[in-house]
Amino acid sequence: MYTRCRVCGGKVGEFLDLGRQPTANGFLLPHEVNQEFTFRLAVGACADCALVQLIDEVSQEVRYHAGYRYHASGSASHRQHFEGNARRLLATELGGSDPFIVEIGCNDGVMLATVAAAGVRHLGVEPSTNVADVARSRGVRVLTEYFDAGTAAAIRAEHGPSNVIFGANTICHIAHIESLMRGVDVLLASDGVFIFEEPYLGTIVEGRAFDQIYDEHVFYFSVTSVAAMAERFGLELVDAEQISMHGGEIRYTLARAGARVPAPGVAALLADEQARRLSAPDTLEEFGRHVERVRDELVTLLRQIRADGLRVVGYGAPGKASTVTNYCRIGSDLVPFVCDSTPSKQGHLLPGSHLPVRAPEAFADPYPDYALLFAWNHAEEIMAKEQGFREAGGRWIRFVPEVRVD
Ligand code: TMP
Ligand code: ZN
Repeated sequence: MYTRCRVCGGKVGEFLDLGRQPTANGFLLPHEVNQEFTFRLAVGACADCALVQLIDEVSQEVRYHAGYRYHASGSASHRQHFEGNARRLLATELGGSDPFIVEIGCNDGVMLATVAAAGVRHLGVEPSTNVADVARSRGVRVLTEYFDAGTAAAIRAEHGPSNVIFGANTICHIAHIESLMRGVDVLLASDGVFIFEEPYLGTIVEGRAFDQIYDEHVFYFSVTSVAAMAERFGLELVDAEQISMHGGEIRYTLARAGARVPAPGVAALLADEQARRLSAPDTLEEFGRHVERVRDELVTLLRQIRADGLRVVGYGAPGKASTVTNYCRIGSDLVPFVCDSTPSKQGHLLPGSHLPVRAPEAFADPYPDYALLFAWNHAEEIMAKEQGFREAGGRWIRFVPEVRVD
């Protein structure tokens, strides 16, 4: 249990308890339901550096194993986003002679495949062997390890300094962040940049996206907490851009202190977070109370639908669906199944709530009366694809930022 900040050692004050939860991507086969691991999913904020983080954590070995089911290439919008990232880096930071880029948590190579195709020196560092193998099949060079101070030193010894260290939806997963940051310091070239894009605390708290909170997301970064963390390790936050991934993220750019002129947007965002009192205890506690209200309303709605003899199917089985179904105790009595386009999730059960996952074809066979949109960050893509559901009289249920039926 962490009552001390993983970055600065300050005191962490808890503001939300989402109850006992399994690992969010721990999909099960029916015969595995009796061996399920759970932990207390609770979050707090550091009184000193403002970093929001999990109180308890699940060991990395439990989270990232050979069967890790999250594939970053799972949706068209993600593929486009990461190809765009690669092209932009190739045109800017990787424009010099013999540049080198390291990606922390390269997953299935969705970003580095474009870099590899351009013939640029690169290395993905990815502990989950199954997704690492997919990356390799795309021509990406991968080291199957965790990124920490030791691995970073080994990479530097073999390949030299890195012009870019990149991470997407990865840095917030790494509980040993102190060692990771020391590793960045070891590996980064003197004029290099550490760029990472992660779910934004502002989106989660102000956008009420409480389902972004699960075992894999150990940290919930803000511009304030990232700037403080950078400073502790001799780095400086030189850019922070808001991007639309996963419902709203920030792309942070860190450079060695004094090496680059910070973009004017950084100071503006810092002042803005201060003015909004984003990490203030009263703001975070109010968010906690809102989440309890959403749970009560959603459960009431689902029970009413069942009482009326109507059907609800869950749409999408992202990690987020685990948080909602387990926090609200939504079982197959309320939502008989969830459909998801990821073949490796189909035929499995959602962790904890044990809702069965079926192929998207099951959705229309026949259409339910309601669809509970777990993959709400892909609402546009999904609703465009499922126009027939609306035309058949079906209605979508959302619960972020609040419970809404339309
Ligand atoms: P993600 O937001 O973490 O990528 O998860 C989205 C999940 O939703 C993933 O399991 C795939 C699923 N999904 C569908 O089932 N149908 C779709 O059309 C889209 C875009 C995603
Ligand atoms: Zn701290």
